[in-house]
Amino acid sequence: MLEKDIQEILFSEEQLSRRVQEIARQIEADYAGKEIMLISVLRGSFVFMADLCRAIDLPCTLDFMSVSSYGSGTSSSGQVQITKDLSEDITGRNLIVVEDILDSGNTLSYLLKILEHRHPASVRLCALLDKPDRRVKPVDLHYCGFTIPDAFVVGYGLDYAEKYRNLPYIGILKPEVYGG
Ligand code: IMP
Ligand code: MG
Repeated sequence: MLEKDIQEILFSEEQLSRRVQEIARQIEADYAGKEIMLISVLRGSFVFMADLCRAIDLPCTLDFMSVSSYGSGTSSSGQVQITKDLSEDITGRNLIVVEDILDSGNTLSYLLKILEHRHPASVRLCALLDKPDRRVKPVDLHYCGFTIPDAFVVGYGLDYAEKYRNLPYIGILKPEVYGG
């Protein structure tokens, strides 16, 4: 039913789950003997976060925050606002910010700056998808699932107008759906 709006499947459930395991192994190696705090940027990263945290065999706490960046239907702007802040104190913690997709970089460059002001021990970014062609602000990406071309994708947590998040795979949305 939702599939009729999908032009092409980019990453199947199996591919996503394999890549999540690989990223988890990388994180385990980099943080061996340490405790980490995963911060999920809602809502797009909730599925990735759920799979990633269960794949990581390290002492780990979780927290969630939500930001809105105003812009048109399929792009963000430089104006970012925290709509839900973290519940936990991050002072002295090893943070890994978990994002669905790094696009213009507007949202994350702002968010990372805010987090750094709160004096964590370290901050790294983990994004499932990276669209480097769209970058406006430089952002350091430590863990990247897949690099993708400039297309609007949905599924595995990613939405268009709050829909399609529940697709188990990631696909390119047909441009006619968003009037592109
Ligand atoms: P940025 O501020 O432009 O980097 O945008 C980041 C946010 O825009 C992501 O966290 C997503 O929520 C959203 N976004 C960017 N590209 C896509 C896409 O292709 N599909 C769905 N959401 C996207
Ligand atoms: Mg997002």
